[in-house]
Amino acid sequence: MTTENRRFLLAERPSGPVDDNTYDLVTEPVPEIKDGEALVNVTWISIDPTNRTWIGEEPTYLPPVAIGEVMRALGLGEVVESKNENFPVGSVVQGLTGWQDYTVVSDSNPLMIVPPEVDAPPSAVLGTLGMTGMTAYFGMLEIGEPKEGETVVVSAAAGAVGSVAGQLAKLKGARVVGIAGGPEKCSWLVDELGFDATVDYKADDWRDQLKEATPNGIDVDFENVGGEIMEAVFGRMNKDGRVALCGLISGYNEKELPPGPRTFGNLLIQRVKLQGFIILDYYARFGEGIKQMSQWVGEGKIKSEQTVVEGFEELPNALNMLFAGKNTGKLVVHIEP
Ligand SMILES: NC(=O)c1ccc[n+]([C@@H]2O[C@H](COP(=O)([O-])OP(=O)(O)OC[C@H]3O[C@@H](n4cnc5c(N)ncnc54)[C@H](OP(=O)(O)O)[C@@H]3O)[C@@H](O)[C@H]2O)c1
Repeated sequence: MTTENRRFLLAERPSGPVDDNTYDLVTEPVPEIKDGEALVNVTWISIDPTNRTWIGEEPTYLPPVAIGEVMRALGLGEVVESKNENFPVGSVVQGLTGWQDYTVVSDSNPLMIVPPEVDAPPSAVLGTLGMTGMTAYFGMLEIGEPKEGETVVVSAAAGAVGSVAGQLAKLKGARVVGIAGGPEKCSWLVDELGFDATVDYKADDWRDQLKEATPNGIDVDFENVGGEIMEAVFGRMNKDGRVALCGLISGYNEKELPPGPRTFGNLLIQRVKLQGFIILDYYARFGEGIKQMSQWVGEGKIKSEQTVVEGFEELPNALNMLFAGKNTGKLVVHIEP
């Protein structure tokens, strides 16, 4: 176990992808705990598109990370020292750990204990059985509400949320079309995850591909990307369709946002219901979602994929990987214990 606490502190707000000036990497002593506190050694960090939104100027659903503050992030670790009986030594915990080797928890600043019966690798605890899996679960099943025979389109389909969201729609009997970058990811979606068709948005003819893949229009859009892709999907929405507005990753690194979708009027004509959602609002129901997803994963009905990056110092590079499509499934950084 490392005897110092490495931390990435926000140094300046990036105007595009994060770069060498975005963070200061500092080394501090391991924090000493007081009565009521426990010390957690962080071993895995979840890399999420929302990390980029947290270091912009504007508040989102959380205030921006302040300059000089440790980078906010979800992670997983183990309690290594404790003066709080609610966090016994050896407990595995997950939650907002930040980009650092150690964090201190207490009853007023807790992390969630991962129940010992959760029989899954840490990358899956942070992925399919964690925040991203729950985003797919509640977003697809409760907002998208796919029905047998309907056409469901998922963008960023080979990523953490999208790959699970598409499989959930398949479980409900829908025809599922995934939009992803490159032939390799598209083949993986069909061959490994059972998607019915794909659109390679990096190909020149992606708009034609979308038309061919959705001959009967689109009933559910699980929207992860925004921009031109969302505009094209909106233009093909069917009457009484649903849009689960999950993310708009194509704009997160941009200073100038693209103009609004020119096809927005089709949502009106087709009486489409669009609902944005933030998964934190479903936190009280995570137990229910994790139980169901664990069962489906155990039965082989949902496949869980991850991309693992090794090494604490790789954290900023790993964040940029999301925007270059260098991950398949859940992206996590493993920190050497
Ligand atoms: N609402 C919520 O509570 C909530 C919670 C979690 C996540 N989200 C959102 O869900 C979306 C997916 O998140 P995730 O964690 O599962 O990430 P992810 O999909 O695993 O990774 C991001 C993927 O997005 C694609 N991408 C990146 N830039 C793009 C662009 N300009 N145009 C098209 N595709 C692009 C890349 O795949 P390609 O190789 O296919 O380009 C990349 O692999 C994000 O928008 C995120 O903000 C929302």
